[in-house]
Amino acid sequence: MTNTRGNHDPAGPGPAPAGDGPNSPAGHEWTAHESAGHESAGTDAVSAGPLTSTWADRVRSAAFAHEDIDGVPLVTDRPWVIAHRGYSGAAPENTLAAVDAARMIGADWIEVDLHVSGDGTPTVIHDQSVDRTTDGSGAVSRLDDDALSRLDAGSWAGPGFAGQRLPKLDTLLKDVSTKGGRLLLELKGEWSPGAVASVAGSIIDEGMADRVVVQSFSVPTLAHLRDIAPLVERCLLRTTPREDDMRVVDELQALAYNPSVRGFFTRRHVVDRFLDAGYGMFVWTVDEPASWERLLGAGVHGVITNLPATLQGYIAAKYDAV
Ligand code: G3P
Ligand code: CA
Repeated sequence: MTNTRGNHDPAGPGPAPAGDGPNSPAGHEWTAHESAGHESAGTDAVSAGPLTSTWADRVRSAAFAHEDIDGVPLVTDRPWVIAHRGYSGAAPENTLAAVDAARMIGADWIEVDLHVSGDGTPTVIHDQSVDRTTDGSGAVSRLDDDALSRLDAGSWAGPGFAGQRLPKLDTLLKDVSTKGGRLLLELKGEWSPGAVASVAGSIIDEGMADRVVVQSFSVPTLAHLRDIAPLVERCLLRTTPREDDMRVVDELQALAYNPSVRGFFTRRHVVDRFLDAGYGMFVWTVDEPASWERLLGAGVHGVITNLPATLQGYIAAKYDAV
C-alpha cells in the first residue's frame, strides 16, 4: 500500500506469532504461549534464541494488527517521532494534556512512565515521589488511589494546566484507544509478576496490544512480561550499553534496544551490532538537531524527544525536501 506520507510499504499485517495460545501462569486466558520454552516468571535467564527476522519484519508481522493509525504508517523509511512523557515540551509531562498534545501533532508514539500506587494501581508519573510534578508530596507507592486522584499535576507547568491529574493506566489506555495514538509505556523500577500481569491485562482487555509497546531498564520486569504476555512487545532501555546486551535482548525476545543518546555515541561498537543485526532502536532523550542528524544517519528507528513537533519538521525537511 501507499501511505499518506507517500512512502510505499508493501507489507500488510501478518499472522500472529507462532505458538500463541492459551496458557495461564498468571491465571489469565490471554497470557500466551506454550511453545517458546519459557520458564515461570521471575527469572531473566531463559534462553530464547537470537533474533531471526529484521526489526521491520517483526513490526509488520509479530504483534501489530494495524498497519497504520490515522494515516501514520507503522513501518516507514524514516524514523519514528516519539513524544517523551507525552509532548512534554508543550504540556505538563505524563498528563492527558501532554498525551493530547502529542496526538494533535501526530507523534508516531507517545512515551509515558508508570509507577504503582499504594493500592497497586499502575499510575502515570515519572518520579518515585509526587513532589516535583504535583501539588502534593510523598512516594507514589505510599499514596492510595484516592489521594493520588486529588493531586493537581498541571499547575506547576502553568495556570492553564490547573486540574490535570495523574492518569491511571486504564484511563490512559481508554483515552488512547478512543482518541488515537500509540503508547511506549515505561515501567519504572522493578515490577513483580503480578504487577506486570495487571499492566498486560489492562492493555489486552482494552484491545491495545497492537498499539502499545513496553520498555524498561529492568531485565526481570521485561522477562515477566515476556513470560506472561509475550504478544505485548518489549524494549530494553540502557543508559550505557553493555558488551553482553545482545544476549540479554535475545533472551527477552525484545523488539528493540533503546540506549541513551550519550550511550549511543560513547558505545557505538555495541549499538552498531544491534543495528547491523536488524534490531529496532529508539534513542532517548534527544532535543538537539545536530544529534538528530547523526542518529538519522546511523539508521536508528525512533527518536524519543521532548520536542516532537520540531523533530517532525526536521524530518520533513530532510526526507521531503525537493
Ligand atoms: O524513553 C526513555 C527515557 O524516558 C528514559 O528516561 O528518565 O526520561 O524516563 P526517563
Ligand atoms: Ca521514560
